[in-house]
Amino acid sequence: MTKIAPSILSADFLRLGEEVKAAEEAGADLIHIDVMDGRFVPNITIGPLVVAAAKRATNLPLDVHLMIIEPEKYIDDFARAGADYLTVHEEATVHLQRAVQQIKEAGVKAGVSINPATPVSAIEDIVADVDLVLVMSVNPGFGGQAFIPHALKKLRQLKALIKTKGVQSPPLIMVDGGITPDNARDAVEAGAEALVMGSAFYGSGDYKALVKKVRENLGE
Ligand code: DX5
Ligand code: ZN
Repeated sequence: MTKIAPSILSADFLRLGEEVKAAEEAGADLIHIDVMDGRFVPNITIGPLVVAAAKRATNLPLDVHLMIIEPEKYIDDFARAGADYLTVHEEATVHLQRAVQQIKEAGVKAGVSINPATPVSAIEDIVADVDLVLVMSVNPGFGGQAFIPHALKKLRQLKALIKTKGVQSPPLIMVDGGITPDNARDAVEAGAEALVMGSAFYGSGDYKALVKKVRENLGE
């Protein structure tokens, strides 16, 4: 079954604990947490303290998406805060393999993400070492942007790459940005196994109904 990962970027931050719990109760599989530094992306969001607070609010795995340059400086802080997955951007670190190793040594599942203009080939030599690949279907920085259809082609390429390489334990294929109940099926058919949903989820008003609709549209 496809995993649904609500992004708390679109939640009510004043009621963050409740919002995280509500996502869990609605049937979410992961909680996606967007960390932005105002340098890699033009927005600033949250740090390890908020991750630690979210950890206390749910039993779901925390999927922490680091949109920060030199993520290696903060990997240990986010690991201590309770991240279950830590995803770094291919574009944000010079030594990607080292960053992935550092995440694993901290006892956390390692993810790598690529921006819309970064080809799948850029992660060809790391796909076998990661637990998650996050394909951005918007330029990172903000919730509520429109899905970039080219991401579907990249999902297909990524799936094919993993297959061709015969990766022993294949990474979870996740897509992030502009996912709605209407395009969820296209993303899954292209290869996505996990869907990040920010504005479509928290903007829906009825989280349970939203999850139900997504699952219906996916035929699950
Ligand atoms: C964008 C973030 C996304 C964002 C998705 O920079 O990485 O996780 O929260 O929000 P929507 O689903 O509204 O595009
Ligand atoms: Zn994200």
